[in-house]
Amino acid sequence: MIKLAAVSRTFDGRSGRVEALRGIDLDVAEGEFVAVLGRSGCGKSTLLRMIAGLLPVTEGEITVAGAPITRPRRDIAMLFQRPALLPWRSVLDNVLLPVEIFGWSRSKHRERARELLDLTGLGGFEKRLPHELSGGMQQRVSLCRSLIGEPRVMLMDEPFSALDALTREELSGELQRVHMETKATIVFVTHSIDEAVLLADRVVVLSPRPGRIRDILEVDIPRPRTLGRNAHLAEVARVSAELHELLMERDGPAGTPAASGTGGR
Ligand SMILES: Nc1ncnc2c1ncn2[C@@H]1O[C@H](COP(=O)(O)OP(=O)(O)O)[C@@H](O)[C@H]1O
Ligand SMILES: [Mg+2]
Repeated sequence: MIKLAAVSRTFDGRSGRVEALRGIDLDVAEGEFVAVLGRSGCGKSTLLRMIAGLLPVTEGEITVAGAPITRPRRDIAMLFQRPALLPWRSVLDNVLLPVEIFGWSRSKHRERARELLDLTGLGGFEKRLPHELSGGMQQRVSLCRSLIGEPRVMLMDEPFSALDALTREELSGELQRVHMETKATIVFVTHSIDEAVLLADRVVVLSPRPGRIRDILEVDIPRPRTLGRNAHLAEVARVSAELHELLMERDGPAGTPAASGTGGR
């Protein structure tokens, strides 16, 4: 569904050239839930923005459903860390915003908007304004808004990282329900091992400077998953420990393991 072939990205700034990502090869299957895990600054947002068509690649190619990505598309939705709702519009009208912007039929989408609000636990809140909702509820509205165009691909950039732990867990449950219902292909960026293991079929671990794929791990745990249930599973402990090792390896010279002792900073 999503294919990255030898994708690189550099930025030329006033303070010189930053090589954000180098030689990324990745295939995400239709309906798959992939987490991209890495430390701050290793190129996760850059990767997602390129898949979304918001940022051109420096080298390589990205295709989604066989077509090269050159600009944003209706079938690819992006969800950011902050909900970015319009404060003067009701919950329902915020969810329906893309419908207006793109001139789709409002009557056709109103029913779907209500279904999505129900699915994410917001039934009964259609007429509220954003400031009347908690941060977690606002992010749910934002999730519904990104789903209203029935995207085949959802790109999520640390969407729960501004929320408290319990809200984050609730939203993770809802996201799993949404994924089962819509069968969308999801790329979910996070710096949290627990979140990656909770949500993903596969975890792509990025190493920093330049961002490269260090390893890809499968997470073979039955769904729906919760942190509570996960806590008892040996597979969770095994994958989490391995991810921890991969993340903690210090940046050696050009991607070699740090144990050589000659690299590091
Ligand atoms: N527009 C930009 N101009 C210059 N450098 C950038 C720009 N966007 C990102 N970078 C640099 O690219 C690297 C990766 O950034 P980013 O993708 O935001 O990482 P992450 O999301 O993993 O924290 C960082 O070194 C960052 O400073
Ligand atoms: Mg980021």
